[in-house]
Amino acid sequence: MPATDTPLPAASPTDSMAEAMGRVDAVIRERLSSDVALIDQISHYIIGAGGKRIRPRLVLLFSEALGFKGQEPYELAAIVEFIHTATLLHDDVVDESALRRGRATANALFGNAASVLVGDFLYSRAFQMMVSVNRMRVLDVLADATNVIAEGEVLQLMNMHDPDLAVADYLRVIRFKTAKLFEASARLGAVIAEAPHEVEEACAEYGRALGTAFQLIDDLLDYEGDTQALGKNVGDDLREGKPTLPLLIAMERGDDTERALIRHAIEHGEVERLPDIVAIVRRTGALEATRAAARAEAQLARERLRLLPDSGAREALLELCARSVERSS
Ligand code: IPE
Ligand code: IPE
Ligand code: MG
Ligand code: MG
Repeated sequence: MPATDTPLPAASPTDSMAEAMGRVDAVIRERLSSDVALIDQISHYIIGAGGKRIRPRLVLLFSEALGFKGQEPYELAAIVEFIHTATLLHDDVVDESALRRGRATANALFGNAASVLVGDFLYSRAFQMMVSVNRMRVLDVLADATNVIAEGEVLQLMNMHDPDLAVADYLRVIRFKTAKLFEASARLGAVIAEAPHEVEEACAEYGRALGTAFQLIDDLLDYEGDTQALGKNVGDDLREGKPTLPLLIAMERGDDTERALIRHAIEHGEVERLPDIVAIVRRTGALEATRAAARAEAQLARERLRLLPDSGAREALLELCARSVERSS
């Protein structure tokens, strides 16, 4: 048979996802524009650096898994990425971080004031876009999510330098600051597809569990990870005196000397003790325990997909659970 007669391979789910994400990027670029040069410069700087685009992927995969076809998911996907990016701009100011997505942070390059203000621009642009979708439920979900994220960041601020933080309070922070936007992204896919209430709730619970797993691993990678692979500086959490799960578990399991060392490091943000602390979190199995907690959340997420019909999108959502937990970047 001549080569020209060979049928083209059917588009794989990966191909169609790449194409769909390309459409999201087109919406992002289109909606990013501003006549104010500094806004244009900073917003393109951070968005152009990429990122994993997990939240927009959730919107697209859930709406696809529930059989919806139309333009709205692309708009909603861009909206959640704008909200995410706004929180990153603000978070890097609060955390005094210097590296993000493998580049100098916007605050390091353009200053704190510019970063905060451009973060506000992205938030408010996201709200303009939400209104244009013209669905009260969409507004409801996203207004709630942005409010809860802000509460999470403030709660975290209140917990800084507190080595006596309870695990339940730590979990509350990560559910608010991170899992809430994952939850909203997944829920929006269901809302736009007009899924029945119980299906929408299952999608939301998937997002919430996946987001929790995702932040647990983020907190783990701040001790175990590699700056180059992560594109962010490891040790930032310790420098800020953030009592994250690896440290809370290590304090519980360590001997008196180890406990005292970690307490002191949290209280004083002693990033110079990072090598000692990495040794303790390893020795006590705190890193493995954190990973196990993330795996348990990912398993919860997987179980919530039972209500969804079999499809390539559902497969991709299952795979995202594994990837979010086993990742190194
Ligand atoms: C970073 O999120 C903030 C956290 C919730 C840990 P991502 O790891 O999704 O960041 P990008 O978008 O891929 O850079
Ligand atoms: C996540 O917390 C921040 C947001 C949800 C905005 P982190 O402070 O751990 O995120 P990274 O590590 O800076 O990306
Ligand atoms: Mg941070
Ligand atoms: Mg982090």
